[in-house]
Amino acid sequence: MLRVITFPGVRCATSAYRLSSTFRGSENHRNRHSHSANSGRSAFDERKNARSTHNDRAVAPSKGSSETFETRRFNDHRNDSNRGEANLGSKLSTINWQTEDLVPFKKDIHVEHPELKAMPNDTCRKFLQSSNITIKGMAPIPKPMLKFEHAQLPDYIMRLFGNQGFDKPTAIQSIGWPIAMSGRDGVFIANTGSGKSLGFIVPMLLHIAAQPPLRTGDGPIALVLAPTRELVMQISKEASTFGRPGGVLNAAIYGGVSRNGQANSLRQGVEICIATPGRLLDLLESGTTNLKRVTYLVLDEADRMLDMGFEPQIRKICSQIRPDKQTTMYSASWSKEVSGIARDYCTEDPVLVTVGDNGGQLRANPDIEQLVTVVDSESDKRNAFKKWLEEIFTQNKHPRMIVFTDTKRGADNLCRELTYNQYTALSIHGDKQQRERDQILRDFRNGEIDILVATDVAARGLDIPNIDYVVNFDAPNNPESYVHRIGRCGRAGKKGVSMTFLARESDTSIMKDIAKIIENVGQQIPQELVESSRSTANNQLRQFMSRR
Ligand SMILES: Nc1ncnc2c1ncn2[C@@H]1O[C@H](COP(=O)(O)OP(=O)(O)OP(=O)(O)O)[C@@H](O)[C@H]1O
Ligand SMILES: [Mg+2]
Repeated sequence: MLRVITFPGVRCATSAYRLSSTFRGSENHRNRHSHSANSGRSAFDERKNARSTHNDRAVAPSKGSSETFETRRFNDHRNDSNRGEANLGSKLSTINWQTEDLVPFKKDIHVEHPELKAMPNDTCRKFLQSSNITIKGMAPIPKPMLKFEHAQLPDYIMRLFGNQGFDKPTAIQSIGWPIAMSGRDGVFIANTGSGKSLGFIVPMLLHIAAQPPLRTGDGPIALVLAPTRELVMQISKEASTFGRPGGVLNAAIYGGVSRNGQANSLRQGVEICIATPGRLLDLLESGTTNLKRVTYLVLDEADRMLDMGFEPQIRKICSQIRPDKQTTMYSASWSKEVSGIARDYCTEDPVLVTVGDNGGQLRANPDIEQLVTVVDSESDKRNAFKKWLEEIFTQNKHPRMIVFTDTKRGADNLCRELTYNQYTALSIHGDKQQRERDQILRDFRNGEIDILVATDVAARGLDIPNIDYVVNFDAPNNPESYVHRIGRCGRAGKKGVSMTFLARESDTSIMKDIAKIIENVGQQIPQELVESSRSTANNQLRQFMSRR
């Protein structure tokens, strides 16, 4: 099927004015859905049991035990990633790219706006500094786009920006767009809720428009990989808003629902495929589509996609993509460990762009006021949470709130307990049917319920407007998860509040990390957290001495 994509005003460039290397050098760069009433066992008791029996975790170990950091990560992505299916993708054949008849493609589609051409390097430097943007990578780096006009986008996209009330590109967009449009591989790290999705969707649409149209049997031109089904659906919606009016179609490919509709979309031909890795591998193996035309690869939540849970699947998928593709990666967290892996998926050393950098430290969105309550035991925590919740609901009749728990059963139990206490709450996690997950998210988005109780399946990427509070009822397993969880509030310039409940008996290992994250955004570290972290350090020293 042939479709012509029209993007008025978009030209392709083979060369564009770039910042000089001299300039680059300075770039130091919150009861209707009643559940059955509480059976009498508290969520907290259940959690304790869950911890001791390990019967509700994709990955068994409990906090504070001696398991490795990696095995503790993201214990509720099993159904989204099919990561238990080790053989997924094993039937895929190895492609000899030397002998493939590949469609020629244009990587560099950047055309510098005359205003940017005339803009002195010093003005660029000041903008980067004031926006706290750090760039590390080979020159030439294009100048940042200070206004939407600088991106020279089709009128309909400009109108969509206007309709959504956007007045200028966010920091990551202003520098990420020109770098991506220049055909560069890149890693783009910016706070939660800072517009990274459009950061990759806009250049992706232009990239597609610059390529020869799809022919019958062609697979997608752009591939976006994301860790959860809900995130795939969200990105697909945004890609439809901005792509469909220009004739760019996308397919959302994810597990838990029938393959048929997804397979049909792929067979009919879509320019963009947005997928969770497991279902995509499944459809690749069945020969439903192929990735030979993919020239633009995006890993959203890149550090998550490259960690142990997903990396083998990403590797198999990438083996089906031509080696000269352009790769861009986006997240609010990044680490040295994933940097090395990231390089494997790029054709060049990727440009590393960080917004709000503070010496490579993990950074939370400063628009979120981070509160912490430290108590002695898990049962104290339950009482503290109840009391806090009562106070919040006295001040505000319908606060919108996500409450994170450690386990799926913990989420269901807490939800039952909240419902029993007359709060409107629903729980979401990886053991629920996809249709139910979709309905629950819709109800939360529409304000039908005040409280969404969730596992880490909702920790990354979800953009639900006007969430007032994120509560860590159970402490996150790692600092990255903390930053992503609390990042579900305080988005797109709005303010949010996070409340983390920590029990001295079980959460000591994360206290120091949370204290550091609070300190990094210049907020006051709660005294009880300082004291608990200090006593943890003391205990560690004592344990060390006793082992000598
Ligand atoms: N230029 C802009 N001006 C104002 N708002 C914007 C702009 N671009 C995007 N947004 C809005 O910002 C919100 C957050 O965007 P998005 O979900 O892309 O954030 P993110 O950086 O990907 O966050 P996360 O790290 O949690 O995935 C969305 O509601 C989006 O519509
Ligand atoms: Mg995102």
